[in-house]
Amino acid sequence: MDLMEQVKIRVLDYDDLDAIVEIDKEVLGKERPDYWQMKIELSESRSPMASLVAELDGRVVGFILGDASGWEYGVPDTVGWIDTIGVHPKYQKKGIARLLFKEMVTNLKKVGVDTIYTFVNWRDWDLLHFFDKMGFQKGDMIHLELKLEG
Ligand SMILES: CC(C)(COP(=O)(O)OP(=O)(O)OC[C@H]1O[C@@H](n2cnc3c(N)ncnc32)[C@H](O)[C@@H]1OP(=O)(O)O)[C@@H](O)C(=O)NCCC(=O)NCCS
Repeated sequence: MDLMEQVKIRVLDYDDLDAIVEIDKEVLGKERPDYWQMKIELSESRSPMASLVAELDGRVVGFILGDASGWEYGVPDTVGWIDTIGVHPKYQKKGIARLLFKEMVTNLKKVGVDTIYTFVNWRDWDLLHFFDKMGFQKGDMIHLELKLEG
């Protein structure tokens, strides 16, 4: 059977914490359980249909954390956000992130979202390539920063 037919997309659950910590560790090389625990708790209380996992043979191999805007940064509620997306390195380049993204978009459209925002580090080529392939363009918002002394 085609790999994509075996991948199941479902809503992220608190029990997925360990799998997500593991994927993050494989991708970035460090373990951040407290950080992910906070993220998952927040996602469950906000727009649960926008945070999804991809399962292959009962194992979580990828995830996307998204949200519908509640007017953060003055952004209207027709805007949805992608906070993070990650696929286990062993399962990358097989279409799993695309599946997660498509399903999240379908779910966000149902609650009235018509635009998606995300922040990407401009040196993060994997993510930039991926979002480019998904049709993203550079948006009108700009990122400002101030370095604080001492
Ligand atoms: C970016 C990422 C999510 C892509 O996942 P993926 O499952 O490999 O992506 P897909 O296979 O669904 O790719 C979809 C499209 O994007 C393109 N793409 C994905 N990664 C790419 C890369 N590194 N370079 C070039 N194109 C890329 C694919 O070629 C594909 O386009 P195509 O269908 O026209 O060939 C994955 O590389 C990842 O998790 N990177 C780490 C991201 C991160 O730091 N997350 C936070 C911590 S977990």
